[in-house]
Amino acid sequence: DVLPFVLLAVAYLLGSVCSAILVCRALGLPDPRSQGSQNPGATNVMRIGGKGPALLTLAGDMLKGVPLVLLARHWGLSSDLISAIGLAAFLGHLYPVFFRFEGGKGVATALGVLLALDWQLGLAVIAIWLLTFAPTRISSLGSLTAFTAAPILAWYLDPGYMLGVVGMSVLLIARHKTNIQALLKGEEKKFGTKKPEAS
Ligand code: G3P
Repeated sequence: DVLPFVLLAVAYLLGSVCSAILVCRALGLPDPRSQGSQNPGATNVMRIGGKGPALLTLAGDMLKGVPLVLLARHWGLSSDLISAIGLAAFLGHLYPVFFRFEGGKGVATALGVLLALDWQLGLAVIAIWLLTFAPTRISSLGSLTAFTAAPILAWYLDPGYMLGVVGMSVLLIARHKTNIQALLKGEEKKFGTKKPEAS
């Protein structure tokens, strides 16, 4: 049966579409791989182009993890295959065939995959991201906390999806190596809190 391979391949190809690069190109912004953290992701697009472009990037990268997972669930495929399809979309984002296999850190795509696997799991992980980001204003710290918790939450909510959730979390944390080093030195980039208008 070739269906699993087709689904895995299409998920990977969709995951390879890098929203940050395309959004910046379309809006005439600098390439995110050459500015800021040099990561093609929503956080860095926020630094380069502000909220609108960042939200477009976030939405695009989240959405690409959704359709194939939902289709696999709709067709009643095995949990292992469903979570492997999510992992394939995530791998597309990290190693995109369209961009010389140099992609991003996978946070938005993994969140989309989690929402598609189980919306409660997805929302719980997003809540942890927000609860970490709100007081610290550090995006990477939100990502690291959220994806340390993701396998634990999946263990309780969806043990059948452990393969995909653990795979994504391990790779996602590994991709944050320079962020972790900066955090340990107390040098990780923060987003400013709103300042009152200068008069
Ligand atoms: O979305 C990735 C985020 O966790 C960190 O991004 O650009 O600060 O390395 P960045």
